[in-house]
Amino acid sequence: MAESVTITDNRTGESIEIPIVNGGVDATQWSKLLPGMWFYDPSFGTTAAASSAITYLDGDEGVLRYRGYPIEQLAEKSTYLEVAYLLVHGELPTTEQYEAWKHEITYHTYIHEHVRKRFIEGFHYDAHPMGMLVSSIAALSTFYPEAKEIDDPAIRMKQIVRLIAKLPTLAAGAHRYSKGMPFVYPDNGLDFQTNFLSMMFRVAEDRYECDPRLTRALDILFILHADHEQNCSTTAARVVGSSQADPYSSMAAAAAALYGPLHGGANEAVLRMLQDIGSYDNIDDFIASVKAGKGRLMGFGHRVYKSYDPRAKIIKNAAYEVFEVTGKNPLLDIALKLEETALNDEYFVSRKLYPNVDFYSGLIYEAMGFPVEMFTVLFAIPRVSGWLSHWQEMLEQNSRIARPRQLYIGAPERDYVAMNARS
Ligand code: CMC
Repeated sequence: MAESVTITDNRTGESIEIPIVNGGVDATQWSKLLPGMWFYDPSFGTTAAASSAITYLDGDEGVLRYRGYPIEQLAEKSTYLEVAYLLVHGELPTTEQYEAWKHEITYHTYIHEHVRKRFIEGFHYDAHPMGMLVSSIAALSTFYPEAKEIDDPAIRMKQIVRLIAKLPTLAAGAHRYSKGMPFVYPDNGLDFQTNFLSMMFRVAEDRYECDPRLTRALDILFILHADHEQNCSTTAARVVGSSQADPYSSMAAAAAALYGPLHGGANEAVLRMLQDIGSYDNIDDFIASVKAGKGRLMGFGHRVYKSYDPRAKIIKNAAYEVFEVTGKNPLLDIALKLEETALNDEYFVSRKLYPNVDFYSGLIYEAMGFPVEMFTVLFAIPRVSGWLSHWQEMLEQNSRIARPRQLYIGAPERDYVAMNARS
């Protein structure tokens, strides 16, 4: 059997045979036979916009691997910082490489005082922390003008380290400002997760301490969120990066894409939905309203997963471990009942709608004391390592600027009419 497809133009009878490579066909071959005729695929549902060696995802089987390593093994045995190294460098680090990486990240957590004073503290008191994060990531590009030299691998790596290291500082700074709490500086004596929690929650204690079960749960959540191949925000990073914009501008674009409720904003939307449902008695009415087209069951469904999202399974287990420390989140029972109801309902079954990564993550974050508006920020902190890995890969592939075509459906040519002559 030939590993190819043959396309025939029925107007001319001409044919072209296109080889199938890595499960896809090269669109430039198609263009040779049919110049000026475009594939119509507005949400890229059937378009491979990149070839990538970073993350493998099989949506039918519920499989997710970073650089070949199953997500279940990474969540059980690895740490977020090690996973970030794996995504960026392509291989797991040796002990020496890991220590050097950890040191680099730890010593790049500080932000310029002007970023804090002029940008973060310049926002209105009730600004959403995600809006603050998007803007302050973009602002960083003005503090590191050398970042424009994207062809220099050493300069590129420096910005990768800076971004992975500084996102927790920016995120915590946004939170402290919105609560009227003084900014807490990074503490190099703490590990990545404890340092982040210290910057978030430390009050007047000499040294911030946290139950290791909570820092481990946060680490697992960061591992699960670190990458997810060509999702909306990663595509935004690659598209903006393809114009050779500096990495801070590209990452700000990615964070902006993540903000939306259909993407990273879903974890916040899930919690608000559970709060609105409020009790068991309202679940059936809520499901009926979703089926009637009045809103979506947030945290359910995925463009690629058509079975249980493997990340949701791991998060659900992690939730129980967190609740052992914090006490059970009262919304858990509503979430469990909602899941059970949906998974037994023909509407959700026939559309292959299962819980995704966002369905349970908010319950953990809330139990740990994070305010709801920080949830998407918590998604962005680890996802920046995925965005940066894709950005770097795209540059190494010498990608052309992203520039899709369109099918024009507007008015044909017509003459300008003076305003006083318009009806
Ligand atoms: N609740 C109710 N119906 C849904 C849902 C949902 N959550 N998701 C999809 N559907 C229905 C949709 O109405 C459509 O029905 P019909 O065929 O009758 O028109 C069908 O299922 C297919 O949906 P779609 O909109 O074509 O699917 P999509 O691939 O374009 O959207 C999605 C994927 C994730 C945007 C969507 O499932 C959704 O809006 N989910 C809720 C938001 C959410 O949880 N997002 C987080 C995604 S995972 C983390 C991340 O990537 O950020």
